Amino acid sequence: MALDAFFFIVSLFLLFPSPSASESTTQFCSAGRENGVGSCGVSSTRILIKGGTVVNAHHQELADVYVENGIIVAVQPNIKVGDEVTVLDATGKFVMPGGIDPHTHLAMEFMGTETIDDFFSGQAAALAGGTTMHIDFVIPVNGNLVAGFEAYENKSRESCMDYGFHMAITKWDEGVSRDMEMLVKEKGINSFKFFLAYKGSLMVTDDLLLEGLKRCKSLGALAMVHAENGDAVFEGQKRMIELGITGPEGHALSRPPVLEGEATARAIRLARFINTPLYVVHVMSVDAMDEIAKARKSGQKVIGEPVVSGLILDDHWLWDPDFTIASKYVMSPPIRPVGHGKALQDALSTGILQLVGTDHCTFNSTQKALGLDDFRKIPNGVNGLEERMHLIWDTMVESGQLSATDYVRITSTECARIFNIYPRKGAILAGSDADIIILNPNSSYEISSKSHHSRSDINVYEGRRGKGKVEVTIAGGRIVWENEELKVVPRSGKYIEMPPFSYLFDGIEKSDANYLSSLRAPVKRVRTEAT
Ligand code: URP
Ligand code: ZN
Ligand code: ZN
Repeated sequence: MALDAFFFIVSLFLLFPSPSASESTTQFCSAGRENGVGSCGVSSTRILIKGGTVVNAHHQELADVYVENGIIVAVQPNIKVGDEVTVLDATGKFVMPGGIDPHTHLAMEFMGTETIDDFFSGQAAALAGGTTMHIDFVIPVNGNLVAGFEAYENKSRESCMDYGFHMAITKWDEGVSRDMEMLVKEKGINSFKFFLAYKGSLMVTDDLLLEGLKRCKSLGALAMVHAENGDAVFEGQKRMIELGITGPEGHALSRPPVLEGEATARAIRLARFINTPLYVVHVMSVDAMDEIAKARKSGQKVIGEPVVSGLILDDHWLWDPDFTIASKYVMSPPIRPVGHGKALQDALSTGILQLVGTDHCTFNSTQKALGLDDFRKIPNGVNGLEERMHLIWDTMVESGQLSATDYVRITSTECARIFNIYPRKGAILAGSDADIIILNPNSSYEISSKSHHSRSDINVYEGRRGKGKVEVTIAGGRIVWENEELKVVPRSGKYIEMPPFSYLFDGIEKSDANYLSSLRAPVKRVRTEAT
């Protein structure tokens, strides 16, 4: 849809709210929640989803879902309501928790430019594709976390869906350590990301990573890593330039899988040394995945997040003679040769990897052209927020690799658990937020930059067709996507605070105690006088 038409619909909605957003009454009353939303008698949005297969991560059943005031009130067969409730027929369709994308970069200043999707356009695209919450990475301002957090508070003001923040750490001193504590205790941040790549800008060294891991552990915050060896990448880039390779293929050639495997192994071993959980973002290669598998097998708490591009694309595009096409696929770590994606899919379906993100970080073709003469200047990043739910269903469920319940787990529930917001998010349960999608397994879609909702003029999934279409998205109890129409409201999205000490921290105190008692030290020695 053209951007103008899209914003026209948004404005229309602001002037004339849809009937589903109007007030109505029903026999149902939701139990009061702590925040006061959902008590009886308050004017509300009331929706009944009838006759669908309700899918949660551990169970699916034929049931109706009743929503009031943005909260799921009841999940049971044959719910009866009055005429005034908006009824959606989901017969033959799946009713599932809205997707949660753990990895996005909206309005991010990066490589001399800023991503083309801001919080509003990126979120609108997400909602059209069935994702109802995302977690974005706050980038500090000159290393300052509080300034970074305030900047992202401003960037996210127009949000039309719920979102949370991770915080990147790019330098280390007492102030950073103090601010980490404040952000966890007062601002709802429970994860910090360390870039082991992007030498000269975001990259941190091992001594900083160690300090960060210790601090994360003490705060109950999850440490996350972008795992590539940044020094070696720098060397690889020099090598390509010396060989006269300046095009997008040089990007892949300069940072091969071995450098991702090395950094993943190093981060995992340092997290093991500190004894704190680790989350590896955008796992793109077998090399990295094997390290995660080994660590998990040994009992270490390591989470591996593949992203859609790494699961379903391969690197042949980077060799395309047309720069505009080839540069679209430049992201880090790079999209890998054929074979890596399928291996990552297998790891996802067998539980070696746990959840799927997008790393949505979009630049348009003009921005990508900043690197026309030098691949090192092509802004790194690809789209995916709008496409993730569709592509994962088609690639993994339609092909029989994943069940519908597993689909819910890897696209929504596991993210909510890891970031400690389950079952408010990631579930179709009475009391959960009404972030719901209705997916028709018999309907199909085609992806195109002409019809997508991102502001970018390019799409790395251009022309891809698939089965299984999100026909309805409900976010915060509002129908925001129906009949191919977006009805999003700026400022309707909420910032979701995420508390520390998720389930990943269970047992850490005990294993620390076991470690201390295993030391058999300090040994008491009797000093004898030298003769
Ligand atoms: O190419 C990428 N991945 N761009 C976004 C920044 C990052 O490394 O996550
Ligand atoms: Zn990264
Ligand atoms: Zn990223």
